[in-house]
Amino acid sequence: MRLGVNIDHVATVRQARRTFEPNPVFAALIAQQAGADQITLHLREDRRHIQDRDLELIKELITVPINLEMAPTQEMKEIALRVKPDRVTLVPERREEITTEGGLDVVSLKDYLKDFIKAFKEAGIEVSLFIDPQEDQVRASAEVGADAIELHTGEYANLWNDHKFKEAKEEIKRLRRAGELAKSLGLRVYAGHGLTYQNVKEILSLSDIVEELNIGHSIVANAVIFGFERAVKEMLKLIKG
Ligand code: PXP
Repeated sequence: MRLGVNIDHVATVRQARRTFEPNPVFAALIAQQAGADQITLHLREDRRHIQDRDLELIKELITVPINLEMAPTQEMKEIALRVKPDRVTLVPERREEITTEGGLDVVSLKDYLKDFIKAFKEAGIEVSLFIDPQEDQVRASAEVGADAIELHTGEYANLWNDHKFKEAKEEIKRLRRAGELAKSLGLRVYAGHGLTYQNVKEILSLSDIVEELNIGHSIVANAVIFGFERAVKEMLKLIKG
């Protein structure tokens, strides 16, 4: 199972002060050095975390594949075709949401996406669609010509986090069914959203279908906690000598 490290929330902390630190480009380099198989980032329309310059620098400096999450808009399409990440993952986007809520409704956007995807295929950029584990969404993803799907694990993660383990197991079965169908239709299968150090274990039971997980918030959250003691000590050294 490959790991794509999503570095968005390093930028969230920086944007809280509109300052220079922490730098998500630096985080991407460290993630790569640590063995991440891929760097994932989401350039949102409202630029709430990752900025255009971050994307450009990451593309320039990172050697593992880059997965750009983006809303299927003309603005993002132009940016992606210019920067040329290895993959684009199309996600729904609503300004008021805290994070991506629910998968892309490929069924409703079928004609639009069929056309939208063409330019990426011509440019040799892999196209993945972030969808809920539903049969109709999987079938529509194959029909519009996507190369891959990323299954939304948010529902599973919420159930697990609420200690609803029986329901979480049922959700794993749904993810498996959707993944198996996708594979049978020739799509590659990835997964992500809401995965943590606690709930990731059960997802590994899908490793015969799911090639890759994209994980962001929990890694950044743990980096803050793991690194906090050292950060305080370094500041004390400066202040107290
Ligand atoms: N995959 C997709 C498509 C996402 O939109 C996100 C969140 O940006 C993730 C994975 C990572 O989710 P999390 O930050 O909850 O690990």
